[in-house]
Amino acid sequence: MTKQFAVIGNPIEQSRSPELHHAFAEKLGITLHYSKRLAALDGFEASVRNFFEDGGVGMNVTVPFKEQAFALCDVLTERAKTAKAVNTLWMQNGALHGDNTDGQGLVDAIRALDWPLEKTRILILGAGGATRGVIYPLVQAGVKEITIANRTLERAVQLVEDLHDAVAPAQLNVMALDQLAGDFDLVINATSASLSGDALQLPAALRFNYAYEMAYGKASSFLEQAEQRGVPSTDGFGMLVGQAIEAFSIWHGVKPQLKDFLSKSS
Ligand code: ATR
Repeated sequence: MTKQFAVIGNPIEQSRSPELHHAFAEKLGITLHYSKRLAALDGFEASVRNFFEDGGVGMNVTVPFKEQAFALCDVLTERAKTAKAVNTLWMQNGALHGDNTDGQGLVDAIRALDWPLEKTRILILGAGGATRGVIYPLVQAGVKEITIANRTLERAVQLVEDLHDAVAPAQLNVMALDQLAGDFDLVINATSASLSGDALQLPAALRFNYAYEMAYGKASSFLEQAEQRGVPSTDGFGMLVGQAIEAFSIWHGVKPQLKDFLSKSS
């Protein structure tokens, strides 16, 4: 029987995971079937259990179930523990394993752009789940210093406290979102501001060489401001593909090349 994979979320219609995984499989000569599963808001666990009892091999997890997936796993990778969220599930020896590939997806996307990471100073806007998920992989990639700027400063302080031991090699700082200033190699927008159509203000006192918007497919004032400054910038499509590639490589033991899949229409 064809190996079965799925992405689970609510809503799920917008997910591009099936087309990405089918494209990777075709490129690498692997046969699989990857579907979308809509779970009721109180039906996540039952849906996951059914999928694996029916012989499913691997699942991706998207909004709003990543924290529930984390809580459900018997075995977690280090980066999933740091993220406290899981986006990739599989069964091994009867145990449910969980990983989080979002951060590595971001790292791979930045590397595919040939933007520097090693020994850099990075500013991340936002202190929610999206930020939490990428800090450990960024530090593993050699980033020297990460400043987290958030509208609610207290939340950034809490996140830095939480992550301090896990990311000891890098320095973590906090900043209020309305007092952005200083010199950074890269600014990453991990707020959900662009999703709600709100504008973030990047003042002149904030200087940076590259800008990464984690959101994809939405108008972004963050990207507009980076473009006005003539700073190289991109939306989160590469990260989306990167996290899918990393999940694919966990399940299949082979890693597609990110650069082969960066065309948005493919
Ligand atoms: P996610 O899992 O996507 O990170 P989240 O945990 O709800 O979602 O976090 C959303 C982040 O975007 C938070 O950092 C939030 O700031 P607060 O902690 O102050 O709420 C930030 N955010 C959302 N809307 C924003 C806006 N309009 N302006 C600035 N920051 C915003």
